[in-house]
Amino acid sequence: MYTPATQPSPCASLRIGDAAPDFEARSTVGPVRLSAFRGRWLVLFSHPADFTPVCTTEFVALAREAAAFEARDCALMALSVDSLFAHFAWLRMIRDRYGVEVRFPIIEDPTLVIARGFGMVAAQDNDSAAVRSTFFIDPKGIIRAMTCYPANLGRSIPEMLRILEGLQAADTSGALAPANWQPGEPLLEAPRHDLDAVFDAEEATAWFIRPVGGTPE
Ligand code: BEZ
Repeated sequence: MYTPATQPSPCASLRIGDAAPDFEARSTVGPVRLSAFRGRWLVLFSHPADFTPVCTTEFVALAREAAAFEARDCALMALSVDSLFAHFAWLRMIRDRYGVEVRFPIIEDPTLVIARGFGMVAAQDNDSAAVRSTFFIDPKGIIRAMTCYPANLGRSIPEMLRILEGLQAADTSGALAPANWQPGEPLLEAPRHDLDAVFDAEEATAWFIRPVGGTPE
């Protein structure tokens, strides 16, 4: 049953365009510092808890696609309230049961200090089981996109990749990624701002819907 929030929701504190708050933490691959990822893209995401069904499917799917993120110069980093040793035990279980090794770092955030800083949990929440937050952080450390899913809906890994690829393509070209855009498809040029362009356009949408690029099939 859906219960409306009576307090400020998680995912409400940071905005697109903000600098990602820096932190240092223990992780499954040793100590990590967010700012050490500058120069690369980073997908930082929270999960409600280790050893839970939906989270397990997300980690298996992400580990299987890790090379696709790597190929786009993007690191992955996960975070939950669980201890490092819980993370280790869960990753071992995932490896033995599903045959995939999760090699990207999983941070332990027992005091929720990182989760609170990113608005992954509401300030007054005592556990992190509420949401699946995802932050797409660019090579300058700026948050470029965010998603927030509930505990009972797993994220789409193809959509996470598409968000990354869309942001990268838009940055490279200065153009815009339309609805349902997929890599290789045309982007859209930014709309014109002058009335002559509006009236001179060959047809009614040609001044503001202008496909550009794309890979011929
Ligand atoms: C899950 O990942 O399956 C899950 C996480 C938190 C609460 C319920 C389910």
